[in-house]
Amino acid sequence: MPARIVAFSGNTHRPSRTRTLVEAVAAELSRQRPIDLKVYDLVDAGTGIAVASRSALPLPAARIVEAIETADALIVGSPVYKGSYAGLFKHLIDFVSPEALIGKPVVLTATGGGPRHALVVEHSLRPLFGFFSAQTAPTAVYAGDTEISEGRVADAVVRARVAQAAAELARLLDVAQGAGLSAAPLATAAAR
Ligand SMILES: Cc1cc2nc3c(=O)[nH]c(=O)nc-3n(C[C@H](O)[C@H](O)[C@H](O)COP(=O)(O)O)c2cc1C
Repeated sequence: MPARIVAFSGNTHRPSRTRTLVEAVAAELSRQRPIDLKVYDLVDAGTGIAVASRSALPLPAARIVEAIETADALIVGSPVYKGSYAGLFKHLIDFVSPEALIGKPVVLTATGGGPRHALVVEHSLRPLFGFFSAQTAPTAVYAGDTEISEGRVADAVVRARVAQAAAELARLLDVAQGAGLSAAPLATAAAR
């Protein structure tokens, strides 16, 4: 059965470099394994997501949170805003159940306006998914403004990192599916 992959990008407008980057990782993964891919961004979540509880989320946003929770693996991306992930990206992830991502393979990506904040994937995104005890792929992918243009990854080094991250995700999926862990939490309650 193809692995259910959810790519979630924290962009609020399209076209989006971040969405292009998560789609590039997904495309590379699809060359390596059969996948059933769903791609979402904050445009898909719609308006009215500034609520305090999950039950108050509008249906499109609630469906994205559910898709993130039930996927076999995730490819996530955020534009860099003020040196970190975008606030609305984090806001949607805040509604994900703490147990839902335990052991789930995740590729981390981000895009920014230049090279200065390349380590946002390590300083912001990796700890966030560490909170969830997700299995983040060792290679995270960052692209600056010149590295993605006209809807494609234009830079060879970024393309190589995309391929590496996708290969790592494929291997993590093999391990998770081989161990029967697909989309199932490793524990019912994480100690938080
Ligand atoms: C409010 C705001 C804050 C931003 N802050 C940063 C930043 O701190 N560092 C950076 O490299 N780029 C920053 N940028 C640029 C975006 O991260 C960059 O254009 C990104 O690729 C946009 O992604 P998108 O096309 O998916 O929306 C900022 C952009 C906005 C709108």
